[in-house]
Amino acid sequence: SDLVTGQIGSDGNMEASLTARDRVGIQDFVLLDAYTSESAFLDNLRKRFHENLIYTYIGTLLVSVNPYKELDIYSKKQMDTYMGVNFFELPPHIYALADNVFRTMLSEFNNHFILISGESGAGKTEASKKILQFYAVSCPSTRLLNNVRDRLLLSNPVLEAFGNAKTLKNDNSSRFGKYMDIQFDHQGGAVGGHILSYLLEKSRVVHQNHGERNFHIFYQLVEGGEEDLLRWLGLERNCQHYSYLVQGDCAKVSSINDKSDWRTVRKALSVIDFSESDTEHLFGIIASVLHLGNIKFEADVRGYATLNNNQEMHWLLGIPAHVLQQGLTHRKIEAKTEEVFSPFSVDHAVYARDALAKAIYGRTFNWLVNKINESLANKDSSRKTVIGLLDIYGFEVFSVNSFEQFCINYCNEKLQQLFIQLTLKSEQEEYEMEGIEWEPVPYFNNKIICDLVEEKYRGIISLLDEECLRPGEATDLTFLEKMEEKIGGHPHFVSHKLADQKTRKTLERGDFRLLHYAGEVTYCVVGFLDKNNDLLYRNGKEVMRQSKNAIIKHCFPSTEPDSKKRPETVVTQFKSSLVGLTEILMSKEPWYVRCIKPNEAKQPGRFDDVLVRHQVKYLGLMEHLRVRRAGFAYRRKYEIFLQRYKPLCPDTWPNWKGTAAEGVQRLIKHLGYKSDEYKMGRTKIFIRHPRTLFATEDAFQVCKHKLATRIQAKYKGYRVKGDFLKQREAATKIETCWRGLMARKEREKRAWAVTCLFICSRFIKGFMTRNQPACIDNTEYLAYVRQSYLTRLRENLPKTVLEKDSWLTPPPIMQEVSQLLKKIYIRHMVRKYIRGITPLRKAQLMLKEQTSSMFKGKKENYPFSVCRPFMDTRISAEDINIKVLQMIRHEQIKYSVPVVKYDRNGFRPRLRQLIFTLEAAYLVEEAKIKQRIDYSSLKGVSVSNLSDNFLILHVTCDDIKQKGDLVLQCDYLFEALTKLNVIANKQNCIKVVQGSVRFDIQPGREGFVDFKSGQESMVYRAKNGHLMVVSTDFRQC
Ligand SMILES: Nc1ncnc2c1ncn2[C@@H]1O[C@H](COP(=O)(O)OP(=O)(O)O)[C@@H](O)[C@H]1O
Ligand SMILES: [Mg+2]
Repeated sequence: SDLVTGQIGSDGNMEASLTARDRVGIQDFVLLDAYTSESAFLDNLRKRFHENLIYTYIGTLLVSVNPYKELDIYSKKQMDTYMGVNFFELPPHIYALADNVFRTMLSEFNNHFILISGESGAGKTEASKKILQFYAVSCPSTRLLNNVRDRLLLSNPVLEAFGNAKTLKNDNSSRFGKYMDIQFDHQGGAVGGHILSYLLEKSRVVHQNHGERNFHIFYQLVEGGEEDLLRWLGLERNCQHYSYLVQGDCAKVSSINDKSDWRTVRKALSVIDFSESDTEHLFGIIASVLHLGNIKFEADVRGYATLNNNQEMHWLLGIPAHVLQQGLTHRKIEAKTEEVFSPFSVDHAVYARDALAKAIYGRTFNWLVNKINESLANKDSSRKTVIGLLDIYGFEVFSVNSFEQFCINYCNEKLQQLFIQLTLKSEQEEYEMEGIEWEPVPYFNNKIICDLVEEKYRGIISLLDEECLRPGEATDLTFLEKMEEKIGGHPHFVSHKLADQKTRKTLERGDFRLLHYAGEVTYCVVGFLDKNNDLLYRNGKEVMRQSKNAIIKHCFPSTEPDSKKRPETVVTQFKSSLVGLTEILMSKEPWYVRCIKPNEAKQPGRFDDVLVRHQVKYLGLMEHLRVRRAGFAYRRKYEIFLQRYKPLCPDTWPNWKGTAAEGVQRLIKHLGYKSDEYKMGRTKIFIRHPRTLFATEDAFQVCKHKLATRIQAKYKGYRVKGDFLKQREAATKIETCWRGLMARKEREKRAWAVTCLFICSRFIKGFMTRNQPACIDNTEYLAYVRQSYLTRLRENLPKTVLEKDSWLTPPPIMQEVSQLLKKIYIRHMVRKYIRGITPLRKAQLMLKEQTSSMFKGKKENYPFSVCRPFMDTRISAEDINIKVLQMIRHEQIKYSVPVVKYDRNGFRPRLRQLIFTLEAAYLVEEAKIKQRIDYSSLKGVSVSNLSDNFLILHVTCDDIKQKGDLVLQCDYLFEALTKLNVIANKQNCIKVVQGSVRFDIQPGREGFVDFKSGQESMVYRAKNGHLMVVSTDFRQC
């Protein structure tokens, strides 16, 4: 039953969500059966949107629908939930994507970017902020890193204040493109950042359409600025007084709180390293732009522009009033040798004034971005990986569209192109990797539109530049004519002149229309040339150079390339910055967030089918899905597939012995998959239709219940009277708990893996510096070494005192400690040993100790005796002849042992018993005592140093009648001699001799025993009459 619950518990990811697929739609469009049906796609989005499920996947792409209300899904708790969890395991979320990118970056150590796209107001900027916040919370943190983190987070409100504005589409619309790199060290800590900004919509500074506002910062300053500050800047707290703020007629909007935003910006500025003087200069500029906008010109009698002298000129840039006055009303013309000032008409002066305002604001914005970059810059040069966040203005269509929209929409075309290339490419690569044939997918390639705009010599950009740069009277209309002439036949271009009757009605004379991938946009050519030239009269620049304001000085350097050479046009600069961006992105791994706007009214709960359908179409979501599905809706590693579905086939249940691929093959054969329904890749199974997978999943659900029933049946056996329903409830509960447990385990495992990665790198560094004196790099490593040695030592301690030499070799830094430990441990072991021994064993050991002192290192076969325990006796009392017993019993028999005695004459061997009593040694043959040797007359015992078992007992022989010395062989030589020693205290007379032993056969008659070692042990009478004892040489063994 373990296996059964294990199976149920090992819940997958996408698969697990299948059961819930009817309730909240599907979480991944890839599993949409009718994947070519836009309506089915829309139904799913709508169903989920109305349940506040704004996120849905297409594989790893995230589709996000703007809820236009605060959802409770961005809490810290939610972040924790998504941290380190498998992408498909939890409901789709932007955090899941962010986490997945982060972890992929860490494990593959490469660069990534997240492309966030969607039209204006679809939620791109919010999405990018959510991602940033997620990283801020989820990354490892230290004080230093927190500092970087705070700056990353706070750069946002500052950039938004200066670069965002209320438009008709979005109350906080980004009017610049932003690409932000977040740099991570190898442990995943955010260590720096870098921002690239793209084409700020400068025209907004001087002009706003109805219902729109200027950049937020102007209103924030006027509404929120401290009294002192305003006074110093010469500003009044009333937006209505500034002509640059009121053209859209909506300075106040309920959704925007300029006052509190001001406070946020002020605080942020201080965190991101702006000094007091930086901020003073910065707000000086903002105020100056407002003052500039209020400058009015009057025509003098000749029609030339003059400044109304009554008007108090507030000007904070430290430029002398007359210089400024001259600069705003005259143009400097270089004649052959001299400079001539030509006066402006009023219109011209207004134009020059606005141009100056735009230039000041635009350049200040760039300065701001650079300044933020300085504060985010990471100074150390070790290798970083980055995650790029691209939040760039979305596709935009207004009732009147101008140069800015042209640039913005061109940018979106480029990104769409990139998206197509990257998704098709990656999909194709996966197929190749898995060895599956690539089936081409039909999709709309917008390259044709990109070419129309950017192709050299023929593209719209080239034509526009040509008109801007050519001598002669070029106007917006001549530009239009040129387009009509050069690209008139293009299927994606039409103008009033070229249009058919019906279309012409929808176009004005000065209009042209492009059929973008995202839909038609009608552009009004008026202003194209001007905006593209972005001319700032030369004396305008010269005037600015005299400023005392540090930022302005920086923005208008005197070293600026001379105006004689024409600067690059705006659109060309933009084009090359997009080329640069494409290069940046192409070198990274892409991830996508596609944002959708559910309605134009910025209202929650409203899902406008037509609007959404349109976005789904042009965002290429259907195509992306088709590509993802290019035949195969579902793919999973064999192991994962098998693990989940193995109960469906008796051969694979409960355990499959072969490879996972073979198991899957067997399983799907059993399930009856048809050959065109699936393909076997190298590591994954590809299933063509979701219905195949659904059928399998359904079968699994049924099977699971069957398994559950089996568990229940067993359970019932225990509790016969048990209530079945209650049990089922219990089973479900157990199942849920189990799942939870497994999920938690899985998460812990993953978190551990990530930690491991961090540890590994530190480990390596430590290893490399391990022999250096203790320092930051190696402390942890050395601690690890210490701990590891101690742990290993614990497991490898000598088990007995005798093994004390098997002590684990310590690492260099543990040498001393190890020696101390060894000493302590051995003492401990000895003490333990001693306490554990019995009195009997103690007696035994004491005997052995004596043996050792007599023979250790002296006699060759001594070591072999050590392990043989001594016995009390080798001949029990019953085996001694009763007569003998009767004769010697009074002396107390202490030990008896069988011996071989060699005759004194001829050295013939005889079996005898040797018995030690308290007083004498007896040599006994059956009932006869052959010889008694009183211990007092035992003058010595000789043994050889070799491995024989001979002993010669030398006796004192003053009496002729007495028998002589005894030559004996005893298998228990050491035991016998030790006993003799104990009983008779003969330690000093036991001698270990080399070569030959002289003995007395009888008093006065000597004999010899010669000892040597040889191949084979032998005893014989040698020719010289000596007894020859040959023993095997143990040392040679
Ligand atoms: N996930 C979201 N949750 C709540 N409101 C959102 C979310 N995304 C967007 N919005 C709302 O939509 C507005 C526009 O979003 P924004 O990200 O500025 O659009 P974009 O950058 O695509 O033009 C935001 O100001 C906010 O009110
Ligand atoms: Mg935005």
